Amino acid sequence: MEAEAHVEDAVPEEQRDLQGVYRYYELAKRAEWQVRDLPWGDVPPIPEYKGSPQKLARRRDLWRSVVTQQLQADELAVEMATQLFAIAPDHDAKLYYTTMVQDESRHTEAWLKLIHEAGGMAERDPYLDQLAQQVLDADTLEEKVFLMQVFYERLIIPRFRLIARSSRGTVLEDLCNRLAIDDGIHHGAGMAYERVLLAGAGKKTQNLLIEAANRMLPLFVDHALWRPKAREFVGQLMRDTDVRRLHEDVENGVRLARSLGLDVADIQLPS
Ligand SMILES: [Fe+2]
Ligand SMILES: [Fe+2]
Repeated sequence: MEAEAHVEDAVPEEQRDLQGVYRYYELAKRAEWQVRDLPWGDVPPIPEYKGSPQKLARRRDLWRSVVTQQLQADELAVEMATQLFAIAPDHDAKLYYTTMVQDESRHTEAWLKLIHEAGGMAERDPYLDQLAQQVLDADTLEEKVFLMQVFYERLIIPRFRLIARSSRGTVLEDLCNRLAIDDGIHHGAGMAYERVLLAGAGKKTQNLLIEAANRMLPLFVDHALWRPKAREFVGQLMRDTDVRRLHEDVENGVRLARSLGLDVADIQLPS
């Protein structure tokens, strides 16, 4: 479906102040790195263990599964960033999105190299594909920026920190630390742009975003609680942690929506 350039009750395009978004263009240019900067060959790609062959195989499958999910997420991020670049009507926002398309492409390049060194792809998360499709199919730019940059780019940052902490002294750790910084920029730029897009917007736009959040949340719950076969053996152990994180993510999202001036009383929190 063709996305509308902007919703009808917002500030006209020619009166918008894009300075806040342009700042992130400059920041992204300065923060740019290359896949060859990672410590390939100096440290192991993923954590190494001692133990029985079965234990080693199980651990390896677990890490392949972690890397596969991140590769999948960044492949989808390339598609979403490309679409944002294509439909953003503002010059400076378009300029910013050129850097986000490059970032997500470089992330994908790094994950592809890492999954190869870690022994190959594992199982894809079907719900992650569906969540990305929701963003790609959303009718307006406001909804896309809200879901992708305000929500997803923010919630992935603590995940990267967690993976980095559990994989000290590996290429994976180094990559996760870089991605936490890049996604901080993607989130910040999205917050800045969404503020511009929503300036002067009324109840109609608010409802659009709240409806988008309510369409996304049930699928997000499925995604948060999904376990690939390689991680089934830690499944029961981790379920309480998954539920707690899910609640943190949603509460964070509600707080961010509120900071954009959205009346979030109608968002249906998962139980
Ligand atoms: Fe990324
Ligand atoms: Fe990102």
